[in-house]
Amino acid sequence: MTDDLRTRALEALTAARTRTATLTSCVDDDELTAQHSPLMSPLVWDLAHIGNQEEQWLLRTVGGREALRPEIDSVYDAFEHPRALRPTLPLLAPAEARVYASDVRGRVLDILERTPLEGGPLLDAAFAFGMIAQHEQQHDETMLITHQLRRGPAALTAPEPPATGNGQLLPSEVLVPAGPFTMGTSSEPWALDNERPAHERVVPAYCIDTVPVTCGAYQAFIEDGGYTQRCWWADEGWEQIRQHGIGAPLFWRREGGVWLRRRFGVTEEVPPDEPVLHVSWYEADAYARWAGRRLPTEAEWEKAARHDPGSGRTRRYPWGDEEPTPAHANLGQRHLRPAAAGSYPEGASPLGVRQLIGDVWEWTSSDFLAYPGFAAFPYREYSEVFFGSEYKVLRGGSFAVDPVACRGTFRNWDLPVRRQIFSGFRTARDADGQTGGPA
Ligand code: AVJ
Ligand code: FE
Repeated sequence: MTDDLRTRALEALTAARTRTATLTSCVDDDELTAQHSPLMSPLVWDLAHIGNQEEQWLLRTVGGREALRPEIDSVYDAFEHPRALRPTLPLLAPAEARVYASDVRGRVLDILERTPLEGGPLLDAAFAFGMIAQHEQQHDETMLITHQLRRGPAALTAPEPPATGNGQLLPSEVLVPAGPFTMGTSSEPWALDNERPAHERVVPAYCIDTVPVTCGAYQAFIEDGGYTQRCWWADEGWEQIRQHGIGAPLFWRREGGVWLRRRFGVTEEVPPDEPVLHVSWYEADAYARWAGRRLPTEAEWEKAARHDPGSGRTRRYPWGDEEPTPAHANLGQRHLRPAAAGSYPEGASPLGVRQLIGDVWEWTSSDFLAYPGFAAFPYREYSEVFFGSEYKVLRGGSFAVDPVACRGTFRNWDLPVRRQIFSGFRTARDADGQTGGPA
């Protein structure tokens, strides 16, 4: 049991480091230290921050070892320096950052071998190791966003997702009957503090899209004048699109009557069947209103993803309790784009909702708030300081999320103006007059 945990922790840490190496070895040192967008850190900051976070939690706190490089803590403290200013810091050079991260890792693997995985919430189930593997994977997604923002020729390649999308042939929405379900978790060993504890939520009947909103459907909104009609937009969203002249998702442009997009250094026609990507919460909200619908609440999203009406049980994933495989979902940067809507039939929920996990992060209508009984762990700055009405919740993970950092309970959050993230959405509506029953 403990050996299994050690192996799982080792594999999670190793997989994260392999991905970090891919993301930081495909461009030269100038590109690693450059700032590709004021929204993002230089890649080399993420690299050393990954090592520093690991040093603080696994080497110092768990291992009880001497600090390796205490003098750099403040440079890599995300709260001390906004991303836009990070290029001005005395950053470790790329070669130094690599050596630092690998020195930390070498010591951490030794600590992982020796430390009893019990005796407190940080060690039980190897939680701290799982947390740090997830942290690295989260920064790997952040670095992939930086790659997407970077100008110049492609540095990354990946095979195309399997062409099995049949979104057009599926019923457009699914009725989820009214009733309670268990939201959040108290048993998932590597769930982060904001996913806890498990608690009951009563959700009235609602209908939710079978698949995420596609680029083709979103184009209809654009062509219908969606971006010029005030009525669809929340105040701050209207202000944002006016001020910045926004009229389409980020990375899209129209040329000779055709919508093109730039994707990791390649310009291509916008694929109509693919879930739309790089929209803000305001764009998602405006589209939903234009379509006569609304964004799902976070509870509606999670009930669609986890509740099994057959057994009445809340499960880990839409398809059941087994870990995601490549047949279930587009995760882990195996592909550099979402798969066509209607893909991954094996990943469908019991009611037939598809692609809840992977492909695109899905905006929900909900603010990022603590669950009843929340306790910050192991540090307030992971979640607690972000709770409130400023941030909106995204669910389900994108093609850029590793399975280790993706669960039916996993909560992501961002400002509603953000659109460089791998964000899309699906829509929902009240099931008026319907109290449930067979869909
Ligand atoms: C959960 C993705 C919002 O990137 O800001 C990384 C994850 N926290 N380092 C972020 C995180 C600390 C976080 N998000
Ligand atoms: Fe971080």
